[in-house]
Amino acid sequence: RSPRYRLEVLPPDAWAGHVADRLVERLTARPTLRICLPTGDTPTPLYDALVGRGAPFGGAEVLLLDEYLGLSEDDPARAGERLRRELIDRLADPPAAYHPIDLAGPPDQAAGRHDVLAAAGLDLTLVGIGRNGHVGFNEPGSDADSETRVVALAAESRQVAEAYGASEGPRSGITLGLRRLLESAEIWLLATGRSKAEILARALEGPETPQVPASFLRRHHRLTVLADEAAATRLTGRPSS
Ligand code: GLP
Repeated sequence: RSPRYRLEVLPPDAWAGHVADRLVERLTARPTLRICLPTGDTPTPLYDALVGRGAPFGGAEVLLLDEYLGLSEDDPARAGERLRRELIDRLADPPAAYHPIDLAGPPDQAAGRHDVLAAAGLDLTLVGIGRNGHVGFNEPGSDADSETRVVALAAESRQVAEAYGASEGPRSGITLGLRRLLESAEIWLLATGRSKAEILARALEGPETPQVPASFLRRHHRLTVLADEAAATRLTGRPSS
């Protein structure tokens, strides 16, 4: 079976600029783009490149993919602050609206409010892939129809949070559910570095399974995988059914 997704593999030093150029094209073609963005180490160079290119976000709306619970408001690992710091606050032409996940009140209600924002429609969703195959915080065990919700974090995700500088390892988070992500008109899966090579191959070429939630992204009819050469080393180009 030939892959239904589009795969673009770039040299590591060209990856961020390439993805930024593509995103600038989208923003130019549709200035009112509603876009979902992730945080993490993968998109950081992309955000630098977007700032450097003076990306035209002015008419766009940006929604955050996921957030930790239980971190203080000024914790550097908080995703909403991280995206603000790495992208939103540095843009000469910032988005008309930025929607981090507003954590006021009970977490279930916070998840519900964010879900309503996403349900209004996403034109483009960028996601990374966790070393355990998660998408956002749709951790292993998440099905393709999983809702936007409060989730317990996998041990690996807690360790990554500490590497991001979280003062205490968060145990839970809020994530847009896979169902909502799959409703986006277009999805870009971002993967860079050798540490993502095995999981990217399992997600794209292994069976579709809740054990690797990213494998469900293949169900989408407009999925583009944007990988650097290091993350693509284990791909054969032959997905299983
Ligand atoms: C994190 C976040 C995701 C991110 C993924 C990959 O824990 N919840 O939004 O895409 O894991 O992170 P990184 O890009 O740092 O490898």
